[in-house]
Amino acid sequence: MQSNDNAGAAAGQWSSRFAFLMAAIGSSVGLGNIWKFPYMIGTGGGSAFMLVYLICVLAVGLPILIAELTLGRMGRQGPIETLVELGHRYSGRATWGLVGCVGVLAAVLILSFYSVVAGWSLAYIPKLLMGGMTGLSGAETGKAFDDFLADPLALTFWHALFMLLTIIPVARGIQSGIEKAVVWMMPLLFALLVVLCIYAGIEGDFTAGMVYLFKPDFGAVTWDVVLAATGQAFFSLSIGLGTMLAYGAYLPGGVSIPRTSVVIVFAAILTAVLAGAAIFPIVFANGLNPSEGPGLVFVTLTVAFGAMPGGAIFGAVFFVLLAIAALTSSVSLLEPIVAAFAGRVRLSRSALAWIGGIVAWVLGFLTLFSFNIWSDVHPFGGTRTWFDWIDFLTSNILLPLGGVMLALFAGWVVTRQDSVAAVGFESPFFYSLWRLLVRVVAPIGVVAAVVTNFF
Ligand code: TRP
Repeated sequence: MQSNDNAGAAAGQWSSRFAFLMAAIGSSVGLGNIWKFPYMIGTGGGSAFMLVYLICVLAVGLPILIAELTLGRMGRQGPIETLVELGHRYSGRATWGLVGCVGVLAAVLILSFYSVVAGWSLAYIPKLLMGGMTGLSGAETGKAFDDFLADPLALTFWHALFMLLTIIPVARGIQSGIEKAVVWMMPLLFALLVVLCIYAGIEGDFTAGMVYLFKPDFGAVTWDVVLAATGQAFFSLSIGLGTMLAYGAYLPGGVSIPRTSVVIVFAAILTAVLAGAAIFPIVFANGLNPSEGPGLVFVTLTVAFGAMPGGAIFGAVFFVLLAIAALTSSVSLLEPIVAAFAGRVRLSRSALAWIGGIVAWVLGFLTLFSFNIWSDVHPFGGTRTWFDWIDFLTSNILLPLGGVMLALFAGWVVTRQDSVAAVGFESPFFYSLWRLLVRVVAPIGVVAAVVTNFF
C-alpha cells in the first residue's frame, strides 16, 4: 500500500462500481439514520420533521452530493488538494482549500461523539446476548440504559474499543476492509430492519406509529425544525465536509454520478424510515416517551427484543449490525482527516490515522461526560451540554455551510463546459435542474435556515 500518496489515501481505486456504491452507502447509512433520525423526529415534531427532512434531502442533499462527487472526480486527490487545485484552475485562488480545512475540523468533532455512541451499541451486544435485557418493561429498559450511561468507566472502555476498530482499517488503507464488510452487511442490516418493522407492526401500535411519522402536520414546521432537518439531511448523507469528495476521487470512469447519488439518497431515506417504522409503534404500545432523546433506539428496541422469542440473539445481531454500520461511517470520517495531512507532514498514513483517532477519542470525553458527570454543565449558557453543542455546531452549522460552499464552487466557479463532462447527466434537462439547485436553491435555502437561527 502507498503510505505517503495522499491521493491514494482518499480511497484507493475502488475495485468495482459496486464496491464504490457499497462504500458510499456504508458511509451514509449509519448512526445518523438509525440512532439519530428517530430521536430527532421524537424531539423535533414528528411528521413535520419527516416532511422537511425529505424535502431537504431531495432538494438540497441530493444536488450537493452530486456536486461533491463531481468535484472529487475532477480533482482526483484528497479534499483539500482538490479544492486548492481546482480553485486555482478556475478562479486563480487557492483559498477554496479553507473549505477543506473546516471540513477536517467538522470530521474530528463528529468522529468524537460518533465513537461514544457507537460504543453504546457495542456494549449492548453482550448485554443482550447474556439475556440481561430479556423480559424487561419499557421503564426497566429505560433505567438500564440510564444506569449504563451513569458509568463513565464502562463508556470509556467501549468508546476506546470502537475508536480502535476505526483506526485499524484506516491505518491499513481502507478499501479492502470496507468493501468486504459492507457488501454482506448492508443487505443484512436492511433485512433485519424489515423484520423489526414487521414485529413492530404486529406487536406494537402500528397505526399510532405511522400517524406520528407520516401524517403531515404543517403547523408544526418551525424554523427550528427546518434547521434541524437540514442538518440531519447533511449528516445522514455524509455531505458537507469532504467525505464524498474523497470517495469520488477514485470513481471508476464508467460510473454515473447522478445515478449513484440517487441510490445513496434512497438507501439513506429507506433506512431512516425503516428505523422509524420499527421504533415508534413500540414506543406507543409501551407508553414510552417519543422525545426520550439519544437513548430512544436503545430503550425501545431493547423492549422489543426482550419480549420476542429468540430476542437475545436477534437483539445481539442487531447491535452488531448497528456497530458495523457505524464503523463503515466512522472510517469515512477518519479518512478525510488522514487525507488532509498525508503528503503535507512527514508521517506515515498509519501514524496519521492513530494521531487523528486519538485526538478524536480525547475530544470524545466532552460527549461521554455529557451523559453523566457533566450532564449539568452548560458551557455556553442555556440548556445545551457539551454533546449538544458539538452536535449543533457540526450538523447545523459546519456541514450546511461547508456543503453550500461546495455547491457554490461546483455551480459558479467550475465552468459549465467542464462540469457537464464531469457530472455526466444523460439528459440536458436534469443537468440544468441540478445546476439551478446548486447555484441558487440550495445555497439560499440552507443559508436562510442557518441564519434565521441566530435571530
Ligand atoms: N452519514 C453518517 C451517518 O449517518 C455519518 C457520517 C459519516 C458523516 N461520514 C460523514 C456525516 C461525513 C457528515 C459528513 O451515520
